[in-house]
Amino acid sequence: MKFRFKQFVYFCGIVGIGLACQQRQANQQEKEEKSPSDYPQVEQESFGTIEGKEVTLFTLQNSQGMKVKITNYGGIISQLWVPDKEGQLEDVVLGFDHLEDYLKGSPYFGAIVGRYGNRIAKGQFELDGELYSLATNDGSNHLHGGKKGFDKVLWDAEYLVDEKNVKLLLSYHSIDGEEGYPGNLSVKVVYTLTDENALKIEYYATTDKKTIVNLTNHSYFNLKGAGKGDILEHQLTIYASKFSPVNQELIPTGELQPVEGTAFDFRKAVAVGARIQKEDTQLKFGRGYDHNFVLNRTGEQLFEAATVVEPVSGRKMQVFTSEPGVQFYSGNFLDGSLTGKDQRVYEHRYGFCLETQHFPDTPNQPGFPSVILEPGQTYQSTTVYKFSLANENKK
Ligand code: GLA
Repeated sequence: MKFRFKQFVYFCGIVGIGLACQQRQANQQEKEEKSPSDYPQVEQESFGTIEGKEVTLFTLQNSQGMKVKITNYGGIISQLWVPDKEGQLEDVVLGFDHLEDYLKGSPYFGAIVGRYGNRIAKGQFELDGELYSLATNDGSNHLHGGKKGFDKVLWDAEYLVDEKNVKLLLSYHSIDGEEGYPGNLSVKVVYTLTDENALKIEYYATTDKKTIVNLTNHSYFNLKGAGKGDILEHQLTIYASKFSPVNQELIPTGELQPVEGTAFDFRKAVAVGARIQKEDTQLKFGRGYDHNFVLNRTGEQLFEAATVVEPVSGRKMQVFTSEPGVQFYSGNFLDGSLTGKDQRVYEHRYGFCLETQHFPDTPNQPGFPSVILEPGQTYQSTTVYKFSLANENKK
């Protein structure tokens, strides 16, 4: 009996120690876990080196759990974690895990694009009677800033955190003649993650010589999650009554064509894939959608350019901009040859872009809104990607 009692005491002792240890672990975890008041926050880590210079990966996080990773190489948004209707976070932008993969060749995944987003025919334009020749990198045309555009340079970076927002400030000095553009251009791009699950991008530039500027961001979104299927069932609305038809080289003809009665009418929500296979010269030239939409904006304020809803996850993204146009690109050049984050293969149309911008080839199109920047002026452009749930307002 005595023996049994001893055993019992011994057993209780062991259990007691075990429980105490568990409690200590739980306390420890509690201490390590952050509370909402610890956010917004920013963390930084090394993302490798380029030409002997350190590349940094910044993580911006808000109190809602939304998180964005941005590197100062190309200002690339490499991850963007957004909740679905169950509160599950998913990374909704295409990209790579390692800097080397971006250096090997990326179709502008997540990058800042400049000095001129989109195409300039033959890489040529005239300014005050002077002919400028830019680098050509898309057949005989200039695309997205040339051979070494803003997507391939290292930006200076600093960050700022206030009570509600966390900001990453990137700056780059583009010298006179870089990729053929006139003028020394000082560029600043500010990424802000707000507590309302919005990612705001503000672009600023000044020059010492008359030049042209058209900056944008080239994120490929998939609201299911990067690499988790194609984007054809995403419901898209673009608030545009006209679009820019293009020639075979994707250079605008100069005409602004009504979307009415065409596969380009996204004025009411429709699945991206609903009409993408239609017999249509414009869809043929673009290999799908790769066109500038002329936004129905009035006034200078931010305008809702597009809304996208992914029906299964319930994720919704609204795009607001100060720009006159948005290039809707349905990921037509993705062909399964790139393996992205988490070893996921990016097949045809696994991502879409909504590149807010001035119209393509504006320097050669007198009818399009101007992209000229003069000394003494400041180029300014803002785009907001706001995330929520599809039925949030109906609740
Ligand atoms: C832009 C262009 C497309 C293509 C992609 C990158 O969206 O309009 O034609 O070049 O960039 O692959």
